[in-house]
Amino acid sequence: MGKALEGVRVLDMTHVQSGPSCTQILAWLGADVVKLEAPGGDVTRKQLRDLPDVDSLYFTMLNCNKRSITLNMKSDEGKQIFTELLPRFDILAENFGPGALERMGFPWERLQEINPRLIFASIKGFGEGPYTHFKAYEVVAQAMGGSMSTTGLEEGPPLATGAQIGDSGTGIHTVAGILAALYQREHTGRGQRVTVAMQHAVLNLCRVKLRDQQRLAHGPLKEYPNEEFGDTVPRSGNASGGGQPGWAVQCAPGGPNDYIYVIVQPAGWEPITKLIGRPELADDPEWATPEARLDKLDKMFQLIEEWSIGHGKWEVLAKLNAHNIPCGPILSTKEIIEDDSLAANDMVVRVEHPERGEFTTVGCPIKLSDSPVDVERSPLLGEHNEDIYVRELGLGEKFADLKTQGVI
Ligand code: COA
Repeated sequence: MGKALEGVRVLDMTHVQSGPSCTQILAWLGADVVKLEAPGGDVTRKQLRDLPDVDSLYFTMLNCNKRSITLNMKSDEGKQIFTELLPRFDILAENFGPGALERMGFPWERLQEINPRLIFASIKGFGEGPYTHFKAYEVVAQAMGGSMSTTGLEEGPPLATGAQIGDSGTGIHTVAGILAALYQREHTGRGQRVTVAMQHAVLNLCRVKLRDQQRLAHGPLKEYPNEEFGDTVPRSGNASGGGQPGWAVQCAPGGPNDYIYVIVQPAGWEPITKLIGRPELADDPEWATPEARLDKLDKMFQLIEEWSIGHGKWEVLAKLNAHNIPCGPILSTKEIIEDDSLAANDMVVRVEHPERGEFTTVGCPIKLSDSPVDVERSPLLGEHNEDIYVRELGLGEKFADLKTQGVI
């Protein structure tokens, strides 16, 4: 069966996480992604290594289904080869620090000149303005995009979330931009520039917190557990932040992840009162309606917890779902990597690697009925140099010299 992006070619100059997470999705959707690395390789090949002298999981889990070539973009010959390569690609993706590609001699105007159909996707920390020239990493974007100030307990410091919303979150936004640009090119014949700033992507994911910032002007946020409100949205622990109240309640035997997140929709209250052994609260005017419960959500979840603490989280999941009550046990990373249903959905996938043996990775969350994803291992550094330089560009005679001269 063919793939959705079959025939689309991506020259992938991305590194670390944000960019590679984007191009890995494009590869899974069927694009030919050629990762262009400096002769020393993407820095993450060597970062956080679990095995000596073998590409790290950091690298292997973000660069599946790609090919790898090396090219020294600071050498004259490297720049010349890059100029020959570019017209053969539909997309150039990069997430260097600000100005790096320009310093290599390839600002957007020059790229367009070389290939007017090129879609040039760039990830940076920030948009135009006072921060344009600043580098950024995951938690910097969480800090400046609204996530950290709204995550944590009211009395504690701002917290980072474990979800990589700044890096992989930006990667996914960039995929959307690239696909839209590809579609527009069908009509215009022209490429265009796609830019996504990590701060902007995180802010997009924090949209509801800006909703609440504006609601504050009209009084306290009643669905928040907080007692006092200033002029900014407070950290609200595990409050759901949506229209229906939710909280993580503890379960047996009381380990660090023995919790279940429970949401109390209006229709769920009556069955919950029965489950927790307080059926009289279903009709009690002090408890019967969402409005009546609003000023005692902490007490409501305390009552639910007094019941849940006597049962394991899987048992609580089954009991609540029997009444169609939305809930989710807190799954540890160990539980997730061992989860049969995630494996059956190709979300936890085992891949064979020539140097490290088998490793586990996270599969593609986007499922297309006519474009199935086969997760294939990440490439070794420069593994496809011959494919591209000899077979495609016809540089066979020079190939050995390019290596000895440090061009590739
Ligand atoms: N050949 C020769 N040199 C190369 C090269 C190649 N193929 N590929 C990269 N380089 C060089 C660049 O030219 C640059 O050198 P210069 O600064 O002398 O011009 C250098 O390698 C890379 O610089 P940079 O991207 O700034 O790396 P860094 O390690 O200093 O910073 C980040 C890393 C992530 C902070 C930075 O890349 C960044 O802010 N990126 C944008 C935001 C982002 O994606 N962050 C999240 C990462 S998960």
